[in-house]
Amino acid sequence: MKWSKLLALPAIAVGAIAARDLTQRRHALLRNYPVLGHGRYLLESIGPELRQYITTNNDEERPFSRDQRRWVYASSKLENNYFGFGTDNNVEFTEGYPIIKHRTFSDSPVAVATRATEEMHIPSAKVLGGPRGRRYAFRPTSVVNVSAMSFGSLSAAAIEALNRGAAATGALHNTGEGGLSQYHRNGADLVLQIGTAYFGCRDEHGNFDLQKLKDVVASAPVKAIEIKLSQGAKPGLGGLLPAAKVTPQIAKVRGIPEGTDCESPSRHSAFDDIDSMLDWIETIAEETGVPVGIKSAVGNSTFWHALVDAMRDGQRGVDFITIDGGEGGTGAAPLVFSDAVALPFRVGFSRVYSLFADAGLTDRVTFIGSGKLGVPDNAVVAFALGCDMVNVAREAMLSIGCIQSQRCHTDKCPTGVATQDPWLVRGLDPDLKSARAANYIRTLRRDLLKVSEACGVAHPALIGVDDVEMASGTSNAVPLRETFGYAPGWGRPGEADREAITSIMCGDELSVR
Ligand SMILES: Cc1cc2nc3c(=O)[nH]c(=O)nc-3n(C[C@H](O)[C@H](O)[C@H](O)COP(=O)(O)O)c2cc1C
Ligand code: SF4
Repeated sequence: MKWSKLLALPAIAVGAIAARDLTQRRHALLRNYPVLGHGRYLLESIGPELRQYITTNNDEERPFSRDQRRWVYASSKLENNYFGFGTDNNVEFTEGYPIIKHRTFSDSPVAVATRATEEMHIPSAKVLGGPRGRRYAFRPTSVVNVSAMSFGSLSAAAIEALNRGAAATGALHNTGEGGLSQYHRNGADLVLQIGTAYFGCRDEHGNFDLQKLKDVVASAPVKAIEIKLSQGAKPGLGGLLPAAKVTPQIAKVRGIPEGTDCESPSRHSAFDDIDSMLDWIETIAEETGVPVGIKSAVGNSTFWHALVDAMRDGQRGVDFITIDGGEGGTGAAPLVFSDAVALPFRVGFSRVYSLFADAGLTDRVTFIGSGKLGVPDNAVVAFALGCDMVNVAREAMLSIGCIQSQRCHTDKCPTGVATQDPWLVRGLDPDLKSARAANYIRTLRRDLLKVSEACGVAHPALIGVDDVEMASGTSNAVPLRETFGYAPGWGRPGEADREAITSIMCGDELSVR
């Protein structure tokens, strides 16, 4: 054989691999980076061995450790998500390490499903909007829901995959502040988020437009409205969507002119104090009929004291409060905001919850948590502290292919999740990834129910602050109740809600009220 022919063989082989990579749909990375992408899989396969001796251990990587990511990846692919040999966490020496306390005897019902494929319904223990008598009050069918992430920060394919995954599992899908796009209309019930720029419900000057809001709500399965006051990764920071990113499609969804810079102010213009905020919220709830809540990170406490005071007489109020931890995610933010502004979830949430509990108002509000709560142990701590539901953002992104490369702010996301680049987006197949998002949500719910069962209760919201301790030094562990200064009874729903959810979990019909 001639040398030239011999040399052609590798080129043909590479060409064949490239053709296969370009046409397959399983791996977004390979579709976007044919041939080269295999390097990542090679490194991934030998990475644990290399890192074990050379760089990080299984629990060092941030925001999500390798163990946490492996759990999400395996769960979303329905692969074996167990870990062998025992924990490699530094349980004995890590300050603040959460320890969940099982019970030896219990008469609570047994969680029957053991596989992620088996459907496990865990509805909320509280009826959203019920206490304030909203026309379309409802009991959310899943305690795990998809957190706010806009079309614009995420790709169309990612939004579609998350929406279809949420639909398949009965989870709510929060639109994010970027408006309600066609990709949000793939079957899931929605929480419509309204941010300071009122995207999708604004006039030509950027002011809130009630009629437009009513039109959007009427056009889609919007079950609740969330007013975004702030998010943990960048609280109190406005935003600028550069002209280049304002594509015709994004401009249409957001109700802004194409190809011009679009600013999100740092504060709302529709209200400027608690009084005007509550009036505005009551108007929106009255006009649309759906429950209305707020999302906020926790900084200065004055706002929360004033909100509790204003809600005491029961005349006005929010239906739900989503507390986002300072450790939460974002598409892009200045380092100082991501790293240092707003309290971490456990500290911030417990402060706000305590104010409402002190005033006897917790039964009137559904509490939602976010901030790395998409892994079971963190979620259990959140439920014990008083969350009724958890929202998951980056963990859901991991389930649809995110590899935590932390390049979301560059528009060069290699897996097509957080980019508008058509070539990169093309790699993300919504058919396959929606199934993975659904598998992940089901597995998280299954694990939450199995832990509840171990603790001797029928539902995660019934896990209390005395069921979890935090390691304190090497010779002691302190119950959450002491750590966060909770009074007896705090952290769990009231008696009526406890009875209702226990009977639902024991097999009674899923009731609306
Ligand atoms: C790419 C991306 C976009 C986001 N967009 C929004 C948004 O539009 N509105 C909002 O309130 N939060 C937004 N968030 C914050 C998430 O909804 C969530 O509160 C935060 O990431 C914490 O959850 P996690 O730890 O599960 O990611 C975004 C987060 C990410 C990663
Ligand atoms: S793969 Fe990287 S750039 Fe893409 S969403 Fe994940 S962290 Fe962001």
